[in-house]
This record gives sequence, structure tokens and C-alpha cells, in this order.
Amino acid sequence: MTTDLDRSAPPAESERAYGDLVRGIFARRTTNGPFRPDPVRVEHQHLLVRVAGAAPSHFNSQPWRFVLVEDRDTIDRVAHLSGDSMRQLIERGVFFERYRKYFRFTEAEMDARRDGIFIDHLPGPLRPFTRQVFSDAGLSVMRRLGVPARLGRDNEKLVAGSPLLLAVLLDREEYRPGELSGFYSLFGMGAAMENVWLTVGELGMGIQFVSTPMEIPEAWAELARVLRVPDHLELMAVYRLGYLPEGQARPSIDWSSRHRKRLSQYVYRETCETPERD
Ligand SMILES: Cc1cc2nc3c(=O)[nH]c(=O)nc-3n(C[C@H](O)[C@H](O)[C@H](O)COP(=O)(O)O)c2cc1C
Repeated sequence: MTTDLDRSAPPAESERAYGDLVRGIFARRTTNGPFRPDPVRVEHQHLLVRVAGAAPSHFNSQPWRFVLVEDRDTIDRVAHLSGDSMRQLIERGVFFERYRKYFRFTEAEMDARRDGIFIDHLPGPLRPFTRQVFSDAGLSVMRRLGVPARLGRDNEKLVAGSPLLLAVLLDREEYRPGELSGFYSLFGMGAAMENVWLTVGELGMGIQFVSTPMEIPEAWAELARVLRVPDHLELMAVYRLGYLPEGQARPSIDWSSRHRKRLSQYVYRETCETPERD
């Protein structure tokens, strides 16, 4: 469903007032649906890691490392870990407990906050229970309807159907949590990944976090073993990528959102006491 809230930029910005870069930034999306099965061209893979490497970093330390994964067996193992983590997170109620605060159930709620995820696309059997999905009663309904297993299978299929995985790692010499260099490394990695995310759009590709294994420490450790991550590197994130099919349908639960805060909700003028005018 497209609503009036469904935009991240005023019309002037989404039209021709600015150049390709600005339009590309506003057009960037998280891809929740399937990719075409075609392999990602090696020059596109290299472009993605080169734009990542062009990001700023503290003292030009370039603390990021990447693994490009196309091997079928490895992708299947990651897909299985991802789907099974999704199933466990939903089944145990961990997901909803951890993240319920990000879900919005009405347009009025969304319009007031303009952040989080708007629940307008629950799987069919759950639609009558929209408001209950995050309650204990809702959870048992979901278990009875086999929703955790279904979401797990959907997730496994999406990851397995991706022709390319990209793992992002940080050099532990720089990534020292609690120290400034740890913070700087994260900052640089975020910039690097944003470059990838923006370039993906230009190549007709999509990208999505494979995040569920990260939520379960044993699954994340297993993923690091699958990728043979050595001691001096820390596995930070895994993404799935591929070329986008025409007219992509929305998945059973759409975790992404186009809604964005108004300037007055996140920008101040001169001091933190004066919100910027919209
Ligand atoms: C640190 C971080 C973690 C995220 N985790 C996930 C995720 O687990 N699954 C997913 O589909 N999207 C994930 N996203 C994407 C957000 O859901 C998405 O950026 C947000 O809903 C806005 O949608 P958009 O990217 O399409 O503009 C993540 C984004 C960031 C920056």
C-alpha cells in the first residue's frame, strides 16, 4: 500500500532539481524480495568493493575487509543459518520482545513519529491479529499457525536464491570496542557500506542485511566458521545481493520503511533547544 507518508524526500528533490547523486540517495532502498538468479558480473563485484574502499576512515586506516561469496554450498549454509535463526527468533518471541518498539500500527501513529516500520503487510493468516502479534496471545496464535517456520523458510529461500553474499569484517587492530578507534572503525565501515548501498542501485541490483544469525551468538559464531574468519578479523555483517527482477512483489513481512522524520523532528538550529523549521 502506498500512502501519503510513503516518501522520504520532498517532490523537488525526487525530481530533477538535483544531480544523479542526490537523486540516487533518495532512491536508495533496502531490498526485501528475491533477486534474479544470474551471477553478479565480476566487474560489478569489484566496483562495489572499490566504492566501499573509497570511503573515509580514521588516518586512512581502511579498517574494513570484505568476503565476496558465490559458492553455492557456502550460500546454502548461510541461508540455512539465516532461516533457522529467523525461525528461532520468532518462535521464542525474542524478535518481538526486542523490536516491538519499532513497529507502527496506524497511519496516525506513523504520522506522529515518522520512524520505525509500518505494519501494513502482515502474512494473510495474521492480518486479523495485527495489533496482537506482539503480545503473548498473539505469539501463541502465530505458533499455532506455523508462522515461525514459514518466516524461517521464506528467509532461507531468499538468502539461498541470492547469487552473491558480501561479508564485512573489521581489522581487530583498529576495531577495539570501548576505545575511540573502535568507534572510528564503525563510523568508517558505515560510510563504506553506504557507498555500496548507493552503487547497488546504479547497477540495477538490490541489497539486504542477512541479520538474523547476528541475533543468536551461536549462529553468528557458526557463520564466522563457515567463512573461516581468522582471529585478527571480526565479522561485522553479511549482506545478500543480486540483480533485481522486474516488478518486485513485497515479501510476507516487509521490514523496510520509506517513512522519514520531518526536519523539526531531528534537526536543531544553533543549540539543541531550537528545532529546525520544516
Ligand atoms: C544497522 C542496520 C541494520 C539493518 N537490519 C536490517 C535487517 O536485519 N533486515 C532488513 O531487511 N533490513 C535491515 N536494515 C534496513 C532497514 O530496515 C531500512 O534501512 C529501513 O527500514 C529504511 O528502509 P530503506 O533502507 O528501504 O530506506 C538495516 C539497516 C541498518 C542501517
